[in-house]
Amino acid sequence: MNDTINTLLSRRSVREYQDKPVPTDLLDKILSCGQAAPSGMNRQACQITVLCGKRLQGLLDAVRTDALRSADAFWREAAADPDFNFFYNAPAFIIVSADPSREPLTPIEDGAVILENMMLAAASLGLASCWIHSLVMINPLREGRAYLDKLGLPLNHRIIGSMSLGYAASDLPERPPLEGNNIVKIV
Ligand SMILES: Cc1cc2nc3c(=O)[nH]c(=O)nc-3n(C[C@H](O)[C@H](O)[C@H](O)COP(=O)(O)O)c2cc1C
Repeated sequence: MNDTINTLLSRRSVREYQDKPVPTDLLDKILSCGQAAPSGMNRQACQITVLCGKRLQGLLDAVRTDALRSADAFWREAAADPDFNFFYNAPAFIIVSADPSREPLTPIEDGAVILENMMLAAASLGLASCWIHSLVMINPLREGRAYLDKLGLPLNHRIIGSMSLGYAASDLPERPPLEGNNIVKIV
């Protein structure tokens, strides 16, 4: 097997990170790999926003405020926990959003392949990641979006998905045998 196939088969979602920043050169490589993802009709209508450090703490505070006001008891209870951290305390967090004014027909598909490209690039560089859906669930809420708007992720963008990024706190668990995503070979 080659390195690419090995990376594809060994990548795992990681939910505990070391308290160590992602080196800028590696972060830039990962972002470029996201940018290089295929897109419907080559529209390239997504935005990739990365937050680290103070800005990430600011987002966490804003999202906590939203979650505490949520109609969903799950979010209210989660946010009441002093350890609430929807990106697992990762040192970097990447959000992929789509600009509807550019009318992409395939915003979800485009965003998903960008995220997968970046997760695989991260794994190939010895970093770890996890797709984070929480931000999509709090998407319509106010504080988090207002905070992101101020930072340059416009309110009118649709958030497609996001991912935590950092160094794994421990060795990756081996992948259990795959049972889903059935393959039907008609040969
Ligand atoms: C669309 C999507 C949403 C996901 N959302 C979350 C999430 O919000 N939190 C989380 O911990 N993992 C999330 N995951 C990661 C999955 O739980 C994970 O990929 C799955 O359990 C398989 O594990 P693996 O990635 O280690 O192979 C998400 C994955 C996908 C593709």
